[in-house]
Amino acid sequence: MKHIELSAREARFIRAGVALAPYTTFKIGGNADFFAEVTHTDELREAFLFAHTHTLPIFILGGGTNLLVADEGFRGLIVHVHVRGITYADEHTLTVGAGESLDDVVRYATLHGLWGIENLSAIPGTIGGAAVQNAGAYGVEIASGIKNIEVYDTLTNELRTLSPAECQYGYRDSIFKTDEGKRFVIVHITLALSTRPKPQFSYKDLAAVFPEGSASLEEIRAAVVNIRAAKFPDLKQYGTAGSFFKNPVISGEEYAVLQEKYPLLPGHTQGDGMIKIPIAWILDNVLAMRGVREGDIGAWEAQPLVLTNYGHATARDVDAFAQKIAQDVYEAAGIEIEREVIQVSGI
Ligand code: EPU
Repeated sequence: MKHIELSAREARFIRAGVALAPYTTFKIGGNADFFAEVTHTDELREAFLFAHTHTLPIFILGGGTNLLVADEGFRGLIVHVHVRGITYADEHTLTVGAGESLDDVVRYATLHGLWGIENLSAIPGTIGGAAVQNAGAYGVEIASGIKNIEVYDTLTNELRTLSPAECQYGYRDSIFKTDEGKRFVIVHITLALSTRPKPQFSYKDLAAVFPEGSASLEEIRAAVVNIRAAKFPDLKQYGTAGSFFKNPVISGEEYAVLQEKYPLLPGHTQGDGMIKIPIAWILDNVLAMRGVREGDIGAWEAQPLVLTNYGHATARDVDAFAQKIAQDVYEAAGIEIEREVIQVSGI
């Protein structure tokens, strides 16, 4: 680890040698050389200046809910975005600090009669992280509620407002995950919601709870909370980053070939005619992965796409287990699956 003397001002929000595992829901990862806790733009500016002065790589951390951090940790500066606040921009528009918990924002919207993001209840993590990852559940993605995003542009040291089109949103994807977008740090997110009811029950798990097709915001939020609690490990007890892989999106022809082999394989047709297939179905019905463990890492019983740290799994354990799954899926279905989790350093 590089020895760098912190100035009194830097020492107010930058620390050296910080364990990263407690900042991730996987509960995995070594130390960061430096760790900045940033609550406003001035600190962000200073944190970047510090990293540039000492030629340290930077990683932006939100809730740590979708990360796999290497056992060796990170030889650079972690910038933990802690910008807070939920304010009304107009009667159905909220401006939210990137460090707010997504679920707190969803709860706030629900309590205030604002529709649009209720299906995203109980997803762990910050709204900034959700806006990087385009978090989604039960047919809704956060991008659909975003009016614009205020970013700190680390190349010009200025604040900028990006439209959803400029954010290049896709399935669990955005400009913020690309090399081009790494220059931006999300500071605030403005959500355009609706005061008119518009329940979204396109996913069967949720539709099954409301066969009559209507419900209040509170009822939908409660239903989503219950569905998720039955499917995901309790983060107080286990470590996980949720779905470890993305669901592959394949062409109609590829889907037809797979259906010949696996007639019951589900598929969700996308806007562009491509078909998203649930990898959890293959892990369950073809590879019998539910509850399968290798030491402290395993596929969760109720949802095998959710890789779970049962105790002291290392990043290398997770990596080896995931590589084996990807290989097995390739052999069973001829599909190369892509990891959804973001990896911090080599693993
Ligand atoms: N399935 C099985 N066996 C199982 C579990 C699932 O056969 O044990 C099949 C079923 O056919 C089920 C289908 O897989 O209908 C899909 O399962 P599920 O509804 O649990 O959703 P998923 O496709 O595995 C996605 C997101 C989740 C999100 C849920 C709910 C991805 C990679 N994952 O999972 O997001 O919560 O839908 O909308 O898109 C995350 O990104 O970390 C995440 C948890």
